Amino acid sequence: MDITIERAQPEDAGALIAFLNRIGAETDNLTFGSEGLPITLEEEAEIIREKNRSPRNSLLLAKKGGDIVGDASIETLPRRMAHRAEFGIAVVKAEWGQGIGSRLLEAAIEHAKAQRIEIVELEVRSDNERAIRLYRTHGFVKIGTYRKYFKMEDGTYADFDLMGLYL
Ligand SMILES: CC(C)(COP(=O)(O)OP(=O)(O)OC[C@H]1O[C@@H](n2cnc3c(N)ncnc32)[C@H](O)[C@@H]1OP(=O)(O)O)[C@@H](O)C(=O)NCCC(=O)NCCS
Repeated sequence: MDITIERAQPEDAGALIAFLNRIGAETDNLTFGSEGLPITLEEEAEIIREKNRSPRNSLLLAKKGGDIVGDASIETLPRRMAHRAEFGIAVVKAEWGQGIGSRLLEAAIEHAKAQRIEIVELEVRSDNERAIRLYRTHGFVKIGTYRKYFKMEDGTYADFDLMGLYL
C-alpha cells in the first residue's frame, strides 16, 4: 500500500493522539512510555494549528491507507538560536525498516532547506542504532554525548548522543 507524506491538519488530532500512545508503548527511545502524553483532543488540534501558523515549523505525517504510521517534526528555536531547529521522528514498529523513516527525514530536511534553517539538531539514545544509522546516512554528525539523559522507571539511566545536520 502506498505511503503518503503530508502536513498534519487539525482533523488529524484524534488519530495523532492514538498514534503517540501506540509508539510510546512500542519503544523506550521516546520521552514518554505506554502512558502516552496527557493531552486532550482540542489541545492537540491547537498544537497542529499553531504549527501550521508558523511556516518555519512543520509536523509531517506518514499515512498508509489513511492511518498514521509515522510522524516527523521540525521546531525552530527563538532569537539567537533561530538558525537552528529541533527534529523528532517516530514510525510504528510494524512498519520499521521499509524506508518510511528515511522518507519522513528527507521531507523534513527539504522543508528546513526551503526555510533557510541552517542546523537541524536532535538527541538520540546512544544505543538506538537504527535511528543513528538513519541520521548518519543523511549527513548528521555527532556533537557530543549527554550522560544520564533519561532516568527510566526502573531507575536505570540512558545516555544520549546530540547530533546535528549542518545545511
Ligand atoms: C528510528 C525510526 C524512525 C526509523 O524508521 P524506519 O522507518 O525503520 O527507517 P528506515 O526504514 O528508513 O531505516 C532506517 C535505517 O535503519 C537501518 N536498519 C534497518 N534495520 C536495522 C537494524 N536492525 N539495526 C540497525 N539499523 C537498521 C536501515 O538500513 C536504514 O539505514 P540506511 O538508511 O542506511 O539504509 C524508527 O525505528 C522508530 O520510530 N523508532 C522508535 C522511535 C525512535 O527511536 N525515534 C527516534 C528518536 S531520536
